[in-house]
Amino acid sequence: MPAGDTAPAPAAPVRVVVLASGSGSTLQALLDSPDRGVLWQVVAVGSDKPGVTALDRAARAGVETFTVAPADFADRPAWDVALAAEVARHEPGLVVLAGFMRILGTPLVDAFAGRMVNTHPALLPSFPGAHGVRDALAHGVKVTGCTVHLVDAGVDTGPILDQAAVRVLPDDDEATLHERIKTAERELLTHVVSRLAHDLTHPERTAPR
Ligand code: GRF
Repeated sequence: MPAGDTAPAPAAPVRVVVLASGSGSTLQALLDSPDRGVLWQVVAVGSDKPGVTALDRAARAGVETFTVAPADFADRPAWDVALAAEVARHEPGLVVLAGFMRILGTPLVDAFAGRMVNTHPALLPSFPGAHGVRDALAHGVKVTGCTVHLVDAGVDTGPILDQAAVRVLPDDDEATLHERIKTAERELLTHVVSRLAHDLTHPERTAPR
């Protein structure tokens, strides 16, 4: 580098808001990632249910939490508006749905179009919806897996960003298969979040696919 030139200041980590409805083991993988605080930062974790384990995990990691419960609103559109406002309040560059078991309305989907990702425990477009693992098992597929995709107005229909395959074992039940899929999801989701954050902060050179 020519004398006097200084290296460009490292880009600020991308602000990430994570939404989760349950145990939060996928969230935990993000919280434990070495890229956390470097490429991206989890600035808040939200849930549609008060007191879930995912919120405890976030609090233990020193991350702000919030709950926007549908039961606290007159109707679904009012919940959608409130959730979108609470997420926006944290000024995220990326929103991550990590086991968030609610269909989102247009306020949030439109506000974060192209910047909101979801992880699903099946190889989309096969087996979308709330029972992807059970449906794959019932169908008798030999290989299933997980998908990280951008969120659009449909249910698990957004553009696919990445996938990982998981073999179905002869003695699998829904619980054993889902646990192995979750292991793949934790790695895949963390990888995709880091790749998106890299691309957001280094538009001149996108991360390898
Ligand atoms: C994940 O498999 C996700 O794809 C699905 O729900 C599960 C959440 O697991 N929608 P956890 O709460 O992160 O442990």
